[in-house]
Amino acid sequence: MAPLLDIRSLRISIPTHGGLLHPVRGVDLSVERGETLAIVGESGCGKSMTAQAILGLLPRNARLSAERVDFDGTSLLNLSTRQWRKIRGRRIAMIFQDPMTAFDPCYRMGDQIAEIVRWHRPESANPRVIADMLARVGIAAPDDRLGQYPHQLSGGLRQRMMIATALLCRPDLIIADEPTTALDVTIQTQILKLLADLQKETSVGLVVITHDLGVVAGIADRIAVMYGGEVVEAGAADAVLGDPRHPYTRGLLGCIPTPGETGRRKTLGYIPGVVPRPIGELSACNFLERCACAEAICREGPVALITPSEGRAVRCRLVEGGSRAQERRREVQPA
Ligand SMILES: Nc1ncnc2c1ncn2[C@@H]1O[C@H](COP(=O)(O)OP(=O)(O)O)[C@@H](O)[C@H]1O
Ligand SMILES: [Mg+2]
Repeated sequence: MAPLLDIRSLRISIPTHGGLLHPVRGVDLSVERGETLAIVGESGCGKSMTAQAILGLLPRNARLSAERVDFDGTSLLNLSTRQWRKIRGRRIAMIFQDPMTAFDPCYRMGDQIAEIVRWHRPESANPRVIADMLARVGIAAPDDRLGQYPHQLSGGLRQRMMIATALLCRPDLIIADEPTTALDVTIQTQILKLLADLQKETSVGLVVITHDLGVVAGIADRIAVMYGGEVVEAGAADAVLGDPRHPYTRGLLGCIPTPGETGRRKTLGYIPGVVPRPIGELSACNFLERCACAEAICREGPVALITPSEGRAVRCRLVEGGSRAQERRREVQPA
């Protein structure tokens, strides 16, 4: 069976005064039913652009090209506004960073949720069904909460309301773009755990986007690490976290806070420099300027993804199994 979401060679470019911007430079991703994929990378790496492409919500001036963007066997490329309306919310739901922007401050929660659900899944737009779903996402006294306005709820409660609303529409795929960034650390963990649990129960596909590799451990099945518009490392979550191969992933992992340390971030590893503005085509490894391991070979054109082991992909020439390693083998073998 084809994956639920199957993206090949997704490219996005945006004309700007400074030149053509390439926020996404040929990304491959797939998500199976019932699977959680985490897309991780610092701010500016193209994570949100990728999510926007999946939802048909790119900025007007953005140009998209791809070998394929298939959802449940159907291409999402070149859909009409009407076709998108049948997919967005109903089949692919989005959970944003700040639910305050998703809910209208002037209406009670119950009325808003009912309206959204009535639009996508009329059969679920019933006060009993809605209150039950709120209880399932851990909201106490759901009937009282439904009578309140968004500003009367904490950030964590609003996020639970958004998750409940998304689930009531019974989507096949949920895309959560930095869903917990605005919340404090303990609530972050609770919300992500909740999403992961509900996802396992409902076999919905889940894409969690975050700049924080530390929050995906224990919830993601697979991880795709993005840097400068490219996937630089991908694989099973245990493999990527336990044996990171790309210098960028290693750098991000150095930034994971120590368990038991409360609230404050203790930066163990720090990657000097910033994500480059994605202007123009690449002429070398994208991570070259910030890489502590860089060698002369890293300047020799853009780097392809290699597969050092099954299900694992790394975009680095210095990784065992990469082109430099192959060259070394060639050197020691007589011609
Ligand atoms: N509307 C836009 N117009 C021009 N450039 C944009 C726009 N939105 C984002 N970008 C640029 O695209 C790149 C990727 O952005 P984004 O996908 O938001 O990154 P992330 O979500 O990983 O932080 C960044 O360099 C950002 O500045
Ligand atoms: Mg973003």
